[in-house]
Amino acid sequence: MAGKIVILGVFVADTAYRAERAPRMGETILGNSFALGPGGKGSNQAVAAARLGADVTFLSKLGRDPFADMAFKTWADAGVKPVVTQSDDSYTGAAYIFVEEATGDNAIIICPGAAATIAAADIEANADLIGSATVFMTQLEQPMDAAVRALEIAREAGVRTILNPAPANSLPEGMLALCDYVTPNETEAEALTGVAVASVDDARRAAEAFLSKGVGAAVITLGERGALFHSARRSELIPAVDAGPVVETTGAGDAFNGGFATALARGDDPLDAVRFGCATAAISVTRPGTAPSMPTLAEVEELMAGSP
Ligand code: RIB
Repeated sequence: MAGKIVILGVFVADTAYRAERAPRMGETILGNSFALGPGGKGSNQAVAAARLGADVTFLSKLGRDPFADMAFKTWADAGVKPVVTQSDDSYTGAAYIFVEEATGDNAIIICPGAAATIAAADIEANADLIGSATVFMTQLEQPMDAAVRALEIAREAGVRTILNPAPANSLPEGMLALCDYVTPNETEAEALTGVAVASVDDARRAAEAFLSKGVGAAVITLGERGALFHSARRSELIPAVDAGPVVETTGAGDAFNGGFATALARGDDPLDAVRFGCATAAISVTRPGTAPSMPTLAEVEELMAGSP
């Protein structure tokens, strides 16, 4: 029986521009295509987990506008339960996403809008919900105070905690000690530990730095090399899975986190949960968009059945 996942985070509307390259300052260039769709790291992770069959509640704040309508439709379609307040004084956020045509890699600016006003008091109001979860997960697109308070409440209640430290930001003293798992990519791992991550050995050194700050296990995602799981007892590189040609890597980290949380919540061993997260991410990068690229449980199981 799968446990319950509670995710705190942000929904934004993704505006994605595909082009050969990013414009320089003061320059206008012609792009190849444009797409508008649902995004935001926390919301993407919630959609990923729900499509994989998890029981997911998403905590956030929106405006009252067409992008908020898009959020509610996205969650209803995926089966995410929203616990969301709507502000009349702000707007639902948006993200500018440049996607490089040749590689599918991206660069992003996000404006969280109303979600930038999520406060510790909003989290207190949902303490029972957070405390009732099997797994609690958050990222760093909403205010830090809210993330810290939610991790404290989850930790006090014995809930397993995952911090996806994206985008990288300086963390308050003691925050990492509230985390059973941190799931940075190479860039975020370097920003948070000071260890440049160019190899798997570097990732291990960065993971050790996380452990020394009280993290239970560091899971450092390494793109096409896979993900390193590193705890005091075990350290293993889980190789990436090939699910076909890469179309867009935006949201791959969210797919990984959604898959990882889903597998942990249903009681998988953490290394198996990393494998499940890697397979989820592998499928998501073969499709455009973020939330719309998240695979179903059947798709991930089929891919894993065919992988070594
Ligand atoms: O991780 C990808 C997400 O980051 C995008 O959906 C964008 O909205 C930003 O939040």
